[in-house]
Amino acid sequence: MNVLVTGGAGYIGSHTCLELLESGYGVIVIDNLCNASPKSLDRVQELTGKSLKFYEGDVRDEALLTRIFQENEIGCVIHFAGLKAVGESVAKPWEYYDNNLNSTLVLTKVMKQFGMKNIIFSSSATVYTADNEMPLRETSRTGNCTNPYGWTKYMTEQILSGMATAEADWSIVLLRYFNPIGAHKSGRIGEDPRGIPNNLMPYITQVAVGRREELSVFGDDYDTPDGTGVRDYIHVVDLAKGHVAAVRYAAEHKGCEVFNLGTGVGYSVLDMVHTFIDANHVPVPYKIVDRRPGDIATCYADPAKSLEKLGWKAELGLTEMCRDSWNWQKANPMGYGE
Ligand code: NAD
Ligand code: UD1
Repeated sequence: MNVLVTGGAGYIGSHTCLELLESGYGVIVIDNLCNASPKSLDRVQELTGKSLKFYEGDVRDEALLTRIFQENEIGCVIHFAGLKAVGESVAKPWEYYDNNLNSTLVLTKVMKQFGMKNIIFSSSATVYTADNEMPLRETSRTGNCTNPYGWTKYMTEQILSGMATAEADWSIVLLRYFNPIGAHKSGRIGEDPRGIPNNLMPYITQVAVGRREELSVFGDDYDTPDGTGVRDYIHVVDLAKGHVAAVRYAAEHKGCEVFNLGTGVGYSVLDMVHTFIDANHVPVPYKIVDRRPGDIATCYADPAKSLEKLGWKAELGLTEMCRDSWNWQKANPMGYGE
């Protein structure tokens, strides 16, 4: 079966293309490269010894999508394409709503025209409200998002579940990711953020490789064991395997179902820094600074539903995540830009 992967040249997309190819699926990618390098796809092909088909273009381009569906027999779509920087979404809401919502609307319109209604969507733990008890279950409260990025994920979930309500032949899987980090163990593909990283792990690896002076730890006065923020970090390879499980699930189940993809374990910022230093024997200088506005103390998943229904669970621990993130950064100090 062929899987169309939108945003397949990006961080999670490239790892998922690799796992799909290794599991015997044909892979077709559409990506406009607004936040990715085509080298990621070259390397996926190198690593697997298999080829994929790449269309450079925008998911909002209906004519291009129509051509892709005409030229290929597609059995499922994984929809990663979207803009994802929280701070930027506050400054550029129109761009975020346009890109993230219209890509889904155009994509599902073309899917409907071709009678192919299996779709996996990249949602986020950000759709959960801040006042939930931990761990977060798929039934925990959602909404009250604090930024346009979060709203685009929330709204896309509403749009897709509404389609499944209206037409019983859709198979829709909404995957709520927790905090993906790590890289393929080869060190050939990984996360390559543009500009100053917003997220913790790419900031740590850039400090370790000498691109940045020191890490700022955003607050040590949270109600957590060591006072720093606690998150559910998940290895990107485990996350990618969760997509392969979701493709199988969508082939057998109609309707719209939501799943957490997390490990169920929370680690603090300082846990992460110390594990990184111990695993890799490199220094990571840091200082404690004020809290980052909008951050919550603790966020971790209950992944039980994913185990029960997708037959998936995360296998890799924090040491592997730290080791593989560093392995990628060390071998590619400037990311794909080398
Ligand atoms: P990424 O930026 O590396 O990948 C997204 C890809 O989509 C990029 O290759 C980009 O060039 C492409 N793209 C964006 N808009 C496009 C468009 N209109 N047409 C075609 N291509 C387009 O991000 P990622 O970390 O791999 O995230 C993938 C998805 O997962 C995103 O939807 C993101 O919001 C979601 N997500 C990511 C995280 C995370 O922490 N990385 C967490 C939760 C959810
Ligand atoms: C961020 C996004 C969230 C998204 C999630 C997954 C924000 C405000 N939120 O959340 O919408 O779903 O990523 O990709 O951007 N930290 C530091 N120093 C740093 C960077 C981070 O101390 O330089 C701390 C944070 O305060 C937090 C933890 O590290 O406690 C993780 O931060 P980050 O990687 O940005 O992820 P989230 O805050 O979970």
